[in-house]
Amino acid sequence: MPKTGGNAVDIELTINGERTIVEAGSGDDLATVLRQHGYIDVKCGCDGGTCGASKVFVDGDVRMACEMEATDADGSEIQTVAALGTQADLHPVQQAFVDNFAVQCGFCIPGMVIQAVALLDSNPDPTEREVREALDDNVCRCTGYQKPVEAVLDAAQRMQGEQSVAADGGHPVSAPTHGDESTSCCGGDCDE
Ligand code: FES
Ligand code: FES
Repeated sequence: MPKTGGNAVDIELTINGERTIVEAGSGDDLATVLRQHGYIDVKCGCDGGTCGASKVFVDGDVRMACEMEATDADGSEIQTVAALGTQADLHPVQQAFVDNFAVQCGFCIPGMVIQAVALLDSNPDPTEREVREALDDNVCRCTGYQKPVEAVLDAAQRMQGEQSVAADGGHPVSAPTHGDESTSCCGGDCDE
């Protein structure tokens, strides 16, 4: 069930570069509040803090949004996966996930991409082991992890200006959108 509370207050967030005032109740987690305001690229897939799907950047740090009280984010800058690139110009990590066929159902991918971007920011040339360690709290029930790991290694090469290992050169796909998904966040036991 979503973590929601009473005593709603207005908090100020800068979300993907846009300053906004949102209402958050005491106990509301950040993932729920973001999704309620249309940022459904923030996924919620576990009972809190164990699947990595809800990862976002908060003031430049990777945080599991389901584990952070929204009111604690007051005044923060939030970046979700949708802001990393555009449909026509994906972030190299996003493009590498596409080109390496690392996306199946896609549910885990926002958190994986956020974590991968953070990794490559601090370690531009990681080993496969370092990639696996970085992604070890991002749960994926589809891919078996091999393709995402290959995608991150490919992205590292791309970001260093080296030739991509992807064979087809890539093609644009739909970036995460503010669509018509439910805005509720499990923060508990749903599998949405
Ligand atoms: S880690 Fe946040 S929903 Fe799983
Ligand atoms: S692609 Fe389906 S959970 Fe990772």
